[in-house]
Amino acid sequence: MNWIITFLKSSIGKKLLMGLTGLFLCTFLIVHLIGNLQLLKHDGGMAFNTYAVFMTSNPLIKFVSYGLYAIILFHAFWGLYLVSQNKKARPVQYAAYNGKANSHWTSRWMGVLGTMILAFLVFHMWGFWAQYKFGEVPYTIYERNLATGEITFANFEGEIAGKMERYISNDTEFTIVKDLYVVVADAFQELWIVILYVLSMGALAFHLVHGFSSSFQTLGVHHKKYNALIKGIGVWVFGVIIPILFAIMPIYFKFFI
Ligand code: HEM
Repeated sequence: MNWIITFLKSSIGKKLLMGLTGLFLCTFLIVHLIGNLQLLKHDGGMAFNTYAVFMTSNPLIKFVSYGLYAIILFHAFWGLYLVSQNKKARPVQYAAYNGKANSHWTSRWMGVLGTMILAFLVFHMWGFWAQYKFGEVPYTIYERNLATGEITFANFEGEIAGKMERYISNDTEFTIVKDLYVVVADAFQELWIVILYVLSMGALAFHLVHGFSSSFQTLGVHHKKYNALIKGIGVWVFGVIIPILFAIMPIYFKFFI
């Protein structure tokens, strides 16, 4: 047991915890993105709302979510601690410090970018996650014609037990569900929120470009054969595709809905 503590106290052990938690968060981002892409379906939010019920009711996913919150907090505060330790270890700045020559600017800015993402997350979870869990979210009733697949929907004024109820009657499937889609759609009508999201996705992009390949280096995966692939995934998947797809969502609701 002692060797684990000694290892985690070493500088490589400390970095390893950052790398492993960072890679877990990268996996979460992919799942979150795929789920959120349902916001772009033309079904009045039915697919997204039923997905949100599944993600917040399934016992296994609920359990993983609590781990996710803990890992987000750990990754953020451990990262800030490591930045402060690095600064302490070098109390006197180099007289002729030439950061550019020593490291890419994103690596020097990881702490700042990470703090921006944490601030974004607090705002984001307050706006959507907390509203869904504790706020007053309206219910919508969807009627899907089982023969044609056509979907119509309207506000639901009555009461149901829980987040969703579904039943079939006369070739029509009725789904009454808590309407998180409308909460998202309303938030993205505000231009300042759209701008904040787009800028935050910029910070996320730079954070991930550096963080993704850096975590593999810490894990010791450093081989000619894989370096280009890891760098490519870091830049194109986590630095370009994922942030752009996330940023498209607020832009879509503001300007195309
Ligand atoms: C602009 C695109 C985004 C949209 C539309 C969006 C939407 C949502 C919604 C509706 C929720 C609440 C429902 C749920 O728990 O699944 C949520 C939760 C969450 N979002 Fe996002 N999100 C976006 C981007 C992001 C990004 C970039 C991150 C991370 C940097 C993130 C991190 C989270 C976390 C950690 C939760 C709580 C998840 C859970 O409870 O399991 N989101 N998001």
